[in-house]
Amino acid sequence: MHIGTIHLKNPFILAPLAGFSDIAFRMLCREYGAGFCVSEMISSHGLAYRQEKTIEMLQSHPDERPISMQLFGNDPEIMGEAAAILSEYPVDIIDINMGCPVKKVIKKGSGSALMKTPVLAGQIIRKVADNTKLPVTVKIRSGWTHQNINAPEFAAMAQDHGASAITLHARTWSDGFSGKPDWNVIAKVKKAITVPLIGNGDITCREDGQAMMKKTGCDAVMIGRAAIGAPWIFGENYSSPSIPFRLKALKRHLQLIEQFFTAEKVVAKCKNQAGRYFKGVHSGASIRQKIYETNTFAELKEMIESLG
Ligand SMILES: Cc1cc2nc3c(=O)[nH]c(=O)nc-3n(C[C@H](O)[C@H](O)[C@H](O)COP(=O)(O)O)c2cc1C
Repeated sequence: MHIGTIHLKNPFILAPLAGFSDIAFRMLCREYGAGFCVSEMISSHGLAYRQEKTIEMLQSHPDERPISMQLFGNDPEIMGEAAAILSEYPVDIIDINMGCPVKKVIKKGSGSALMKTPVLAGQIIRKVADNTKLPVTVKIRSGWTHQNINAPEFAAMAQDHGASAITLHARTWSDGFSGKPDWNVIAKVKKAITVPLIGNGDITCREDGQAMMKKTGCDAVMIGRAAIGAPWIFGENYSSPSIPFRLKALKRHLQLIEQFFTAEKVVAKCKNQAGRYFKGVHSGASIRQKIYETNTFAELKEMIESLG
């Protein structure tokens, strides 16, 4: 599969995950074989006004390329400006968030609210595409509600305005994260566009992803929640990895966090992420308890080391 001139070796992609898909986790998922990874959503306003916290989110490493960075916003001019700034960084794809259902984002008309304003959405895509040489992708939902499933027309519109690929989380805004993703909508979007389509929603293993591609015709799949605490999902099929296998991945994750962040400043986030590595594991609850009882990154690391 190609996005613009970028060739993907693996059709399994890490979804943008605010609070999770930072440089450390993206590097880890790439090491386990992810086709590419998408950054956390980045505020176009924050970027256009060069806010320090936003600029920090642009940190990347040559080994994780190709990398996609995701912008969100509601103003075509600001989105264009943000795309131009982003293009000065080592980035390979610019993704536009038109799928986020979070109140804080949609109340300003960004994220999935843009599916209700396709004219504005088209202007945003066009401005972003005009302000970068990089391929632009758009991440959408099936529609606003089940009465307004407009993903096929919307995706075709996005393509006409310069999108080089579409990602579809096959739920509506009104679904939030509940109910089952509707694979029929993925199949319909595939028929409506000629650029590649990335399917998304509830993929929990490679087999699920293969089935989604086979049944809907989508070209690749994006994995979000199932990758948290399980970056090996992008590699071979590990149905129930052993504790040592999990520990190896977690230790590497902590090493990457230390490499790219001041680890002691992000200890709460580290504990949350570390706990996820033992979900659904016999003795997982007691390991998680021990993780939560640590107070510093150094303690957390020592505790993990003590497990083997
Ligand atoms: C914690 C969390 C953070 C997310 N952050 C973003 C984001 O920044 N941008 C975005 O487009 N989608 C975001 N999403 C949606 C995911 O990218 C994905 O579309 C959704 O989780 C469905 O895929 P999954 O079932 O594989 O998790 C987020 C989802 C979760 C659970």
